[in-house]
Amino acid sequence: MKFIEWSNQMSVGVFEIDLQHKKLVGMLNHLFEAMQEGKSSRILKTIIDELVEYTKVHFETEEKYFHQFSYAEKEEHIEEHKSFVDTLEKFISDYKAGRIGLSADLLRFLRKWLFAHIMGSDKKYSSLFIQNGLI
Ligand SMILES: [Fe+2]
Repeated sequence: MKFIEWSNQMSVGVFEIDLQHKKLVGMLNHLFEAMQEGKSSRILKTIIDELVEYTKVHFETEEKYFHQFSYAEKEEHIEEHKSFVDTLEKFISDYKAGRIGLSADLLRFLRKWLFAHIMGSDKKYSSLFIQNGLI
């Protein structure tokens, strides 16, 4: 059983975005598995860095379309992205400095955030993206 399972329910109806969301789901599963297998902190840090970098790439993709299609709720959505990245970066600097450990709580927080964000905020732009020709 995967830590987080992709389901069609999570689709926003746009191939490129779904693909990125699936990749994020996969990266989170990878981190969870590495943690469970007791991988070294060097490996865990690499996986975390990749996850953060890819999260940023993904947010940039969504935000590019928000601007391109003049999405009415872009400010709120971008704010959500920004506050998530801030939280993540704060955690990572604490983790790398040895102030906190990598916990199941954090992984559950990431899973909850990703799921709620896709099912709530991301679904709201879906029809606009499709109307503008994204498939
Ligand atoms: Fe988003």
